[in-house]
Amino acid sequence: MLGDRDQLTRLFTNLLSNAVQYTPSGGKVQVTATHHKHLGQLEIQVQDTGIGIPAEAIPNLFDRFYRVDSARSRKQAGTTSGSGLGLAIAKTIIEAHQGEIQVDSTPNQGTCFTVMLPSL
Ligand SMILES: Nc1ncnc2c1ncn2[C@@H]1O[C@H](COP(=O)(O)OP(=O)(O)O)[C@@H](O)[C@H]1O
Ligand SMILES: [Mg+2]
Repeated sequence: MLGDRDQLTRLFTNLLSNAVQYTPSGGKVQVTATHHKHLGQLEIQVQDTGIGIPAEAIPNLFDRFYRVDSARSRKQAGTTSGSGLGLAIAKTIIEAHQGEIQVDSTPNQGTCFTVMLPSL
């Protein structure tokens, strides 16, 4: 695809750091990328086996400064503590690239973010 390298790096850094931050140790984070050539779309999924997101939080998830519960983050050296901006920034970057983001989550089972971006 054609895109802004720094912004796309930021987008996936935000999704991956959330997956790590909200998954207890021993869990799994999986990334898959699929090129749907016939649709002209790239599909990238970031899946984790973490704490999940309650259904009532999903509508606000991409709002600036929104955090489900500040006590949920796993304390981790080297990661910034949450500001509630990561997903708002991710969404802005995706929209600037004419893409879309979806989330599918089950509390205590895990979360899957799916990003669709136009490919060449
Ligand atoms: N992979 C995930 N698993 C569980 N909860 C998540 C995940 N990603 C985001 N969240 C929830 O969505 C909120 C917003 O995410 P984000 O904008 O990145 O803010 P934060 O700075 O809190 O990480 C987080 O506070 C967290 O509660
Ligand atoms: Mg975050």
